[in-house]
Amino acid sequence: MNRNRIRREHLEQLREKMSRGLFPQWVITDPDVYELELEQIFSKTWQFLGHESELREPGDYVTRWMVNDPVLLVRTQTGDISAYVNSCTHRGAQLCTADCGNRQTFTCPYHGWTFQLDGTLIGVTLGNKVYGEELKREEWGLRKIPRVESYLGMIFGNLDPNAEPLSEYLGDMKWYLQMLVGRTPNGVEVVGAPQRWVVDANWKVTYENFAGDPYHVVTTHSSTVEVDISPRAADLPPRTGYHVVLDHGHAMNLGVYRDVPERPYQGMPESLWPLFQQQLNPVQLDLLARSSIFTGGIYPTLSFNSAPHGFHGDFHNFLNFRVWRPLGPEKVEIWSWFMVDREAPDAYKRASYQAYISSFGPSGTLEQDDTENWARVIQASRGWMARNKDLSYNNVYNYLMGFARLEPNEDFPGPGTAYIGFNDNTSRSIQQVWLDYISAGIKEGEQ
Ligand code: FES
Ligand SMILES: [Fe+2]
Repeated sequence: MNRNRIRREHLEQLREKMSRGLFPQWVITDPDVYELELEQIFSKTWQFLGHESELREPGDYVTRWMVNDPVLLVRTQTGDISAYVNSCTHRGAQLCTADCGNRQTFTCPYHGWTFQLDGTLIGVTLGNKVYGEELKREEWGLRKIPRVESYLGMIFGNLDPNAEPLSEYLGDMKWYLQMLVGRTPNGVEVVGAPQRWVVDANWKVTYENFAGDPYHVVTTHSSTVEVDISPRAADLPPRTGYHVVLDHGHAMNLGVYRDVPERPYQGMPESLWPLFQQQLNPVQLDLLARSSIFTGGIYPTLSFNSAPHGFHGDFHNFLNFRVWRPLGPEKVEIWSWFMVDREAPDAYKRASYQAYISSFGPSGTLEQDDTENWARVIQASRGWMARNKDLSYNNVYNYLMGFARLEPNEDFPGPGTAYIGFNDNTSRSIQQVWLDYISAGIKEGEQ
């Protein structure tokens, strides 16, 4: 098994390199590392399943994945949200294959067993004719995902029954999440189904890209500025970029104007401003008023992005959440949700949606820019030099920006540790969290 192949000495080497701001490239695509990640990270962290607005009525359901575990998320007759393993208890077939819908029962296509919304097995084909006392239906209901909790309508699942509560896991990220999805009394809603597509990428790279790498924007997305579909830096008032490092590998990047700009609150409609004042505390309110861009992540695989996009100077803000579902070390299935404040005017909702689909999602210009780079990382990480675990070559990621030089910014008003300007502090801290997780799977003395 993997523990035999990633040896203790590799772990020591990783620690040593990372203490110097270097991240060995072999871990990006190594299959044994991936197995360790499944075991040590994805089996015990909170993973995003969906938003409550996707399940409005009893019987509404969506099907999701927690990496390889199929999930059936339903609103039951009592109005609660339940998450089951989307696998029939008879012979394990995937129970429901539709993306979403409304049903009162779920019938397995294999032998026809039927389950109701609360998971109870209520129908057995040929029933008492083929089973006697040996089948106690009450013992064969759908299996629940061990933990399901939500915050401001964002539903997360955890495969570890002993995981710390979601609220604690999110920690200081809750403060920022409120500014994104809880800034009006009715919060946000998901519009449409999440877009879904597969790219050549590693989840650590894509997560880090959103959480800690605004540096790439200058080069990767420069063409979108040239063709006037992203704002020019020169056209914007002076602003500061903050990297905010939070516990558990969560992180934020914020573009913040020094003063409240002419179009505050990321240009969101004026009718929403009094609602922001109701929901946010004065510090959050001021920061939101001065913000231009939010990008970040909730470890390990949920990222978000709120930025302006448009055409010929007519820019609109949008809010996008996405899960990087690993399909192996070299592939990611992206699930991407467009969200918007429920109380926003319809015209703004439409403009915001246009801004999203033209910049992110499979049709998005910036998305395609990013995808190309992530695929290139994969392409260049398969070679012998890149995969050499003994580091005979300088096969490392460079995380040196700001290393041992940059001090936290004491003036930043939000929680977490903030750094001004481009730097790799966030990337280093995210990968340190990754290392802490996988280290637990490599036992002392194992060879
Ligand atoms: S596997 Fe579902 S009814 Fe047999
Ligand atoms: Fe990007």
